[in-house]
Amino acid sequence: MTQHRYDPFTQSLHWMTALAVIAAYAIGIGREAIPKGDLRSLLLGLHMSIGILVLGLTMVRIGWRNFVPAPVPLPATKCTALAAKLVHLGLYAAMLAIPVLGLLAAWAKGRDVGLFGLLAFPSPIGQDKVLAKSLEGAHEVAAHAMMLLVGLHAAAAIAHQTILKDGTLARMLPGGRLTETVR
Ligand code: HEM
Ligand code: HEM
Repeated sequence: MTQHRYDPFTQSLHWMTALAVIAAYAIGIGREAIPKGDLRSLLLGLHMSIGILVLGLTMVRIGWRNFVPAPVPLPATKCTALAAKLVHLGLYAAMLAIPVLGLLAAWAKGRDVGLFGLLAFPSPIGQDKVLAKSLEGAHEVAAHAMMLLVGLHAAAAIAHQTILKDGTLARMLPGGRLTETVR
């Protein structure tokens, strides 16, 4: 039978990752406004843990894709299909590259990184302030670019569902109704 919906595990990974990415971004930006002190450090720890979670979820998602392939694409023009593919590829690249850049930046700064106090990833590299600055800059620019891509992606998904009514969003939701053409 042709599969038109993302499987429940991929759906869960998608929405958990989406929440985690938005939380990491909001905390990353928000903590800049807080004066140096305990709260700011606590928020950095939380930011790094959530970011590591994004990396872990993404690796699980890519691994899972080997067992359960994506559903067949919805009927679309060549141009729309290519645009969707490029945005998805860009999002995957960002979900991997941004946490890795952040992790390397933290390590180059001499910070130890943890995962909600459950795991610790002490720095395997020596402290290098110049390298840390460049990595932090790249991390920041990539995070802002990712948010633009996420905005585009979410707007496209909502427009497909509400204007074109082609069931795009329903494919990523549990039990969401698919349209006649793709049921
Ligand atoms: C998808 C995941 C992530 C997103 C969207 C994200 C986003 C951001 C943003 C927006 C900032 C603030 C940049 C600024 O305005 O200065 C930031 C800072 C930072 N992030 Fe991330 N980040 C993520 C994951 C990580 C991870 C996994 C780590 C490390 C393990 C990390 C480490 C850092 C560090 C060290 C800073 C600079 C903090 C400072 O000293 O001011 N980030 N991140
Ligand atoms: C940080 C936020 C997000 C990230 C990183 C993200 C990432 C992705 C990726 C990589 C895919 C490709 C699926 C795959 O083949 O594995 C996807 C699909 C999808 N996403 Fe998101 N997403 C985010 C937020 C959202 C939001 C807010 C919405 C809806 C409002 C949404 C709706 C969808 C839909 C409907 C699909 C399936 C598209 C299709 O079948 O062509 N996503 N997302």
